[in-house]
Amino acid sequence: MRWLPAGFALALGVTAAGYALAADTTSTVPTKRPPDQEVGQALWVQSCAACHGTKGLGDGPLAAALGGVKTLKGAITADTLDGLVGVVRNGKDKMPAFSETIDAGDTRRVLEWIRDISDGKIQPKAPKAAPASGIKKPDVEGKKDVEAEAADEE
Ligand code: HEC
Repeated sequence: MRWLPAGFALALGVTAAGYALAADTTSTVPTKRPPDQEVGQALWVQSCAACHGTKGLGDGPLAAALGGVKTLKGAITADTLDGLVGVVRNGKDKMPAFSETIDAGDTRRVLEWIRDISDGKIQPKAPKAAPASGIKKPDVEGKKDVEAEAADEE
């Protein structure tokens, strides 16, 4: 009869593991790529707008210190896009190279985004709410509770 409790313990263990796995599915590791425009906008704001300006018109806060930056309006076309991907990756004059931080696909996405913005074809979207504000907060607290329970069991 000694195997019975062990069997129960095993069953409980498996159930606990099942819950742990189920809990894991609520974690926030991204598995789905955001739309290209979101990627483009995020990269632009983060890496390019300081010099080129929010809409690529050459009026970023650092533009004057660089001796002026040309507008990108009309500069990015089907004919120039591939070459400009190379320019952004390799750098040019006072512009730094981005090949270490932005891959070729995303370089294309950011250029396509700023092309449509500078041409007035699309408008920048309002940035999404910061993770700290509201929506994700219960998640974090839930996680802490799970961790606390796990610690209690030890
Ligand atoms: C430190 C300032 C700075 C940053 C940051 C910067 N650029 Fe530039 N960029 C320049 C300057 C300066 C030039 C060249 C001169 C000009 O356009 O007036 C330039 C040129 C360009 C050109 C035109 C190249 C050509 O040959 O016509 C593109 C396209 C461009 N940048 C895109 C980007 C993108 C995309 C990013 C962000 C990933 C970025 N830049 C970040 C300063 C910057």
